[in-house]
Amino acid sequence: MEGARKVLMTQVQNLPNVVLFCSIVLFLLVAKNKWESLETHDTKLKGSPDFAGNQKSAIGFEWESTLERTKETKPSGLIPPPPPVATRHPLEVVYSTDYKFLLNEPNKCRERSPFLILLVITEPQHFPTRQAIRQTWGNESLVPGVSILRLFLTGVHPKFGYPLQALLEEESSIHRDIIQQDFLDTYNNLTLKTLMGMEWISKFCPNATYAVKADSDIFLNVNYMVSQLLQPHLPPKKNYMTGYIYWKTKPLRDKASKWYMPREVYPNETYPPYCAGAGYVFSGDLAKKIYQVAKTIKVINMEDAFMGICLYELGISMTNSPWGFFNMFRVKYEKCKFSKMVVVHGYGPEELLQIWPDLRDQNQTCKS
Ligand SMILES: *[C@@H]1O[C@H](CO)[C@@H](O)[C@H](O)[C@H]1NC(C)=O
Ligand SMILES: *[C@@H]1O[C@H](CO)[C@@H](O)[C@H](O)[C@H]1NC(C)=O
Ligand SMILES: *[C@@H]1O[C@H](CO)[C@@H](O)[C@H](O)[C@H]1NC(C)=O
Ligand SMILES: *[C@@H]1O[C@H](CO)[C@@H](O)[C@H](O)[C@H]1NC(C)=O
Ligand SMILES: *[C@@H]1O[C@H](CO)[C@@H](O)[C@H](O)[C@H]1NC(C)=O
Repeated sequence: MEGARKVLMTQVQNLPNVVLFCSIVLFLLVAKNKWESLETHDTKLKGSPDFAGNQKSAIGFEWESTLERTKETKPSGLIPPPPPVATRHPLEVVYSTDYKFLLNEPNKCRERSPFLILLVITEPQHFPTRQAIRQTWGNESLVPGVSILRLFLTGVHPKFGYPLQALLEEESSIHRDIIQQDFLDTYNNLTLKTLMGMEWISKFCPNATYAVKADSDIFLNVNYMVSQLLQPHLPPKKNYMTGYIYWKTKPLRDKASKWYMPREVYPNETYPPYCAGAGYVFSGDLAKKIYQVAKTIKVINMEDAFMGICLYELGISMTNSPWGFFNMFRVKYEKCKFSKMVVVHGYGPEELLQIWPDLRDQNQTCKS
């Protein structure tokens, strides 16, 4: 087992994505049988009506009986049961401040206060994506003279939590850039990942000057962002958050929508202004303020809208960014266009690796 993991991690470093993907699938298939009973037990333990209800329909009975069989003998696992809240809507996020770090990097800022922290949202199984980001816009030595710290934020895979954990630990020991808490990594729990990032900055890196929260399917132009928005030669900004701002948008009440927001969870007719979640930038001081205020209000599953609600509660307004800096829709790659954009949504690992070498000589070829 140990050997197999070593081999797999070597592949994480060297081989093309296809091979890597295949090996992970194989590994998962093997690991699946071994761990299925544990997983089943664990999922069942969480027992909230939403979760059980969603999962049960297809394979409910099988799980039921496995649970009976494993009840007394198996350990309880990575994820503790949620706090019992009788009246909770299924889409209401359980923000327990007791989520434990399963992977942490508490000493990263002992010796330095980074100018910029990259908080990159990632799912546990997305090894090739993280690797591509490390080699492209997540490279910490990208901007000469500017101290950058990269962190990937992740939770626990809802089905393959156990087998993936061993791989994640290995990856983490190599790169030292993953933090993980013991909540389920699901779309509806996305807010918890961002809040984990805020918690991490507050507790382990309070002197960071700026941070950016980035999804892993974007192109991020760190150089341009630093020179245009953060301007290291100027005094650091406070209470600063910018990105692609949505003004006065309405919660979607259509149950079929990916962004469905039940009235029970968020009753107001509009959201306060907020930055689109694919990529937004904020001053380091805000991390602690957001982390603190989030403990006092109802957490919603729309991660970006929730940041807007936090700033509203704090009485802090969003800062406008120049038009064209943050692109929430895909823009076709063109070197000189991209050299003047901060975020472009919709770029996966293969494309990032593809465009990256071409962008390198932008300083020489693109006029400013
Ligand atoms: C990061 O950038 C530096 C400086 O450009 C380069 O030497 C290094 O190879 C890059 N690292 C990775 C992992 O691509
Ligand atoms: C979010 O994570 C918590 C803690 O692991 C879990 O109890 C809950 O079911 C998850 N919520 C969703 C919607 O997946
Ligand atoms: C942060 O900065 C303050 C004041 O400049 C300093 O006293 C403190 O030691 C720093 N903390 C860390 C963790 O670097
Ligand atoms: C929601 O509406 C209530 C009542 O008008 C108001 O007091 C509260 O500040 C609003 N909250 C947000 C986040 O807009
Ligand atoms: C590119 O130009 C910008 C501004 O002119 C400068 O700050 C940066 O260091 C240059 N980057 C490289 C890699 O030469």
